[in-house]
Amino acid sequence: MSNHSVKLLLLLLSSSMMAAFAGNFYQDVDITWGDGRGKVLNNGKLLTLSLDKPSGSGFRSKNEYMFSKIDMQLKLVPGNSAGTVTTYYLSSTSPNQDEIDFEFLGNLSGDPYIVHTNVFTQGKGNREQQFYLWFDPTKDFHTYSILWNPQNIVFSVDGIPIREFKNAESSGVPFPKNKPMRVYSSLWNADDWATRGGRVKTDWSQAPFTASYRNFNANACVWSSGKSSCASNSSSSSSNAAWLSQELDSTSQKRLRWVQKNYMIYNYCTDLKRFPQGLPPECSIAS
Ligand SMILES: *[C@@H]1O[C@H](CO)[C@@H](O)[C@H](O)[C@H]1NC(C)=O
Repeated sequence: MSNHSVKLLLLLLSSSMMAAFAGNFYQDVDITWGDGRGKVLNNGKLLTLSLDKPSGSGFRSKNEYMFSKIDMQLKLVPGNSAGTVTTYYLSSTSPNQDEIDFEFLGNLSGDPYIVHTNVFTQGKGNREQQFYLWFDPTKDFHTYSILWNPQNIVFSVDGIPIREFKNAESSGVPFPKNKPMRVYSSLWNADDWATRGGRVKTDWSQAPFTASYRNFNANACVWSSGKSSCASNSSSSSSNAAWLSQELDSTSQKRLRWVQKNYMIYNYCTDLKRFPQGLPPECSIAS
């Protein structure tokens, strides 16, 4: 081989390795239901879920994680998506599961999606916060992230924190840290409750509904045979496990307050009617 072709070969090899590091749905997830409605495309770079009247679809990560910082880019169902729900969450197995949820509730064309979030610890949730977004989530891909480490859980959108759930074990609030979790995602019909409380129904003449995924990245401690090994699969932060002790700095706290002030539409921590005996203890911990 000439010197030139050796160089070319090396270049090709290194770029294909980078692609592997960037995440590949063939390697990272299993499509778990939907009878062909979930598809991995473009050599593993793209995944689509679809929903029609008979069924939705879903996938889950092959790995289980014991703490992680996961990022995924999603492009939500466009047009009239009323009644559809796209979920993206971390969960341990039931019973008494821990769960960190993002759910995207569709809407009529031109009306805003709701981003619904919840945190379950030991099978108990009731910690909903809901938001509008500051962009149209159906036009382009945007990054939705969940940071889960021993100190806190942070939900972010395009790097902007929208919610923090602090470890409040010292106030008697259980925190997810004993059970490994997988990433799950699904697209399904929930027109009994999703859009305007169930008043707007899914328009099946628009089916199939499709949501798209790319650039899954997990900085994570992978759980295998009862042991956790922390490494990064991301080329950009190969030697960097800063996420494992990451907490919101003052800039991030400012951004969080901006989102909460301008885009939050429901917060269980201010719903006194729902908790007449007093708000849950984690609500009095400032963030
Ligand atoms: C749908 O749009 C209506 C009207 O703007 C809004 O009240 C509602 O919060 C939106 N989202 C959902 C999921 O209903």
